[in-house]
Amino acid sequence: MKILMVCLGNICRSPLAEGIMKAKLPKNFVVDSAGTISQHEGEHPDARSIEVAKNHGIDISEQKSRPITAEDLDTFDRIFCMDLNNYQDVVSMAKNDAQRKKIAMILVEAGEHAEAEVPDPYWGDKDDFEAVYQMLDKACSIVADKILDKK
Ligand code: 4NP
Repeated sequence: MKILMVCLGNICRSPLAEGIMKAKLPKNFVVDSAGTISQHEGEHPDARSIEVAKNHGIDISEQKSRPITAEDLDTFDRIFCMDLNNYQDVVSMAKNDAQRKKIAMILVEAGEHAEAEVPDPYWGDKDDFEAVYQMLDKACSIVADKILDKK
């Protein structure tokens, strides 16, 4: 099973989602992340995401930003988006229903309302990054349990 986490820049939210989800699933699961823009390609995650993950015992410092590709919609089994814009951008890349069915908003998959979004903390402060961490930690626990068919 291969899971892809998607946000805009792939430097704040989806690197955290990747690190958190990796920590919750067995090693045979592939968890990766990507952005809908290529502006930060090759960059490590934002220092504030690295710091908040480190505070919770997760190392995301080696990750590197990359843009989502058309192949990702074939390669990955599930694609979880952080907000509605990311979701619409990825859905617009889908070539068929099989690809479309793989794409979801992560908070919706975790049982929240249909437009629930992980807010972009890029222009915010450390507390915004901690809030995103907490939101993703809770959502990834629920989604990992669903994937592992515990619920
Ligand atoms: P992310 O945050 O989508 O969570 O990685 C952002 C990163 C970069 C930008 C915006 C949001 N940016 O405008 O460059």
